[in-house]
Amino acid sequence: MSKVFICDHPLIQHKLTYIRDVNTKTKDFRELVDEVATLMAYEITRNIQLENIQVKTPVATADCRIISGRMLGIIPILRAGLGMVDGILNLIPAAKVGHIGLYRDPETLQPVEYYVKLPTDVQERELIVVDPMLATGGSANLAITALKNRGCVQIKLMCLIAAPEGIEAVQKEHPDIDIYVAAIDDYLNDHGYIIPGLGDAGDRLFGTK
Ligand code: PRP
Ligand code: URA
Repeated sequence: MSKVFICDHPLIQHKLTYIRDVNTKTKDFRELVDEVATLMAYEITRNIQLENIQVKTPVATADCRIISGRMLGIIPILRAGLGMVDGILNLIPAAKVGHIGLYRDPETLQPVEYYVKLPTDVQERELIVVDPMLATGGSANLAITALKNRGCVQIKLMCLIAAPEGIEAVQKEHPDIDIYVAAIDDYLNDHGYIIPGLGDAGDRLFGTK
């Protein structure tokens, strides 16, 4: 069974409070999502592999460690996942970025795929799928399946807010995928919105409502 990590660092929780606030306007919302993505990237890369090297300091030789040649990939689920990409790239500038375009049909709540563009060497990369919201889990499940169908094996999922229903759905369909979230909320309402949540992440990021 996959593990669920709650990134409960005080800075993350503080910023998440303002992300949720209905009075937070687009500019601040975008900046806060970006900052929380950076902080969560710090958590998600905690176990990244290191290798030993020696460097000459001005006075001696030091035994040091650097991130080993392992290659990372960030996979935002469009649109809202885009809001988390730059924040992660702040910490991991060499990562490549692939895009998976999905929208949730408002009637059925089923995800509809409309775009997939991935790095050519995506199978060799350790991937972080990012989306602020894990609601029914349909979008995350479809994105992870799309990656697995293309030969990807090392995949993690990173979301700001998850509903218990979404976590359960991903764990059921992809028990090998670890999930990183800043908060697990109470439930989904009849329209598939996370309660209390933050509303529509894409609309709030891009000012489309
Ligand atoms: C939102 C969100 C997730 C999805 C979560 O995207 O960003 O991708 O819903 O819901 P689920 O877990 O029930 O699938 P939306 O479909 O609204 O598209 P957008 O990002 O383009 O606004
Ligand atoms: N997508 C969102 O943007 N918000 C929700 O609460 C659920 C799905």
